[in-house]
Amino acid sequence: MAVRKPLVMGNWKLNGSKAFTKELIEGLKKELQGVTGCGVAIAPPVMYLAEAEAALAGSEIALGSQNVDINLQGAFTGDISTAMLKDFGAKYIIIGHSERRTYHKESDEFIAKKFGVLKEAGLVPVLCIGESEAENEAGKTQEVCARQIDAVINALGVEAFNGAVIAYEPIWAIGTGKSATPAQAQAVHKFIRDHIAAKSQAVADQVIIQYGGSVNDANAAELFTQPDIDGALVGGASLKAPAFAVIVKAAAVAKA
Ligand code: PGA
Repeated sequence: MAVRKPLVMGNWKLNGSKAFTKELIEGLKKELQGVTGCGVAIAPPVMYLAEAEAALAGSEIALGSQNVDINLQGAFTGDISTAMLKDFGAKYIIIGHSERRTYHKESDEFIAKKFGVLKEAGLVPVLCIGESEAENEAGKTQEVCARQIDAVINALGVEAFNGAVIAYEPIWAIGTGKSATPAQAQAVHKFIRDHIAAKSQAVADQVIIQYGGSVNDANAAELFTQPDIDGALVGGASLKAPAFAVIVKAAAVAKA
């Protein structure tokens, strides 16, 4: 089986300022000095990509973004293109986050198009999937995850997941302080990997599947003991350098 290097990514959401961006990145650089064995990325608001790019110069921490548009240029007011993200050195691009699916009515098909433009541009899609509390209680977790993955497979083929990242984020765990248990998350991660393996074992073996939803410095280490949890997409706890660094170090140790 392919060895997967874990990836911990911070999703800052709608938080920060120019000063905060510089300060948090300086803190992360200090905390993470000498830490290897875990990829690290941060996705500040796109407004602050310039500050982030400058502050990250010479660091191993990769830059990312929380969204991208499907159009490459032209009359699309308010949107951000793949070329613009590349211009600032962004690499990992979050798409399909449940907050965008909910507040911006983004469909599976629309998100699959975003996946496609990112691959075209040589950027790394971080595809968020996951079920709501009601879907979870109705036993529909696997069905929802399969549907969200299949939208990409149907549009682009399973090979599109080569070099891509999936973030399993049960909606009931996001920002609630109620993380999935390591066993619960592992069961879904294994389902996701098996679902991809049914089309291509090689693609399934290398795809990074992060867990997201109330990951913090206290629960990360146990989550990372699970074989199919390859890192985390972290919201709230990514806004404090010490907590985020504990999560990164936990992944590096667990997957060494
Ligand atoms: P949380 O957010 O860590 O604050 O729960 C995770 C996410 O939405 O990516």
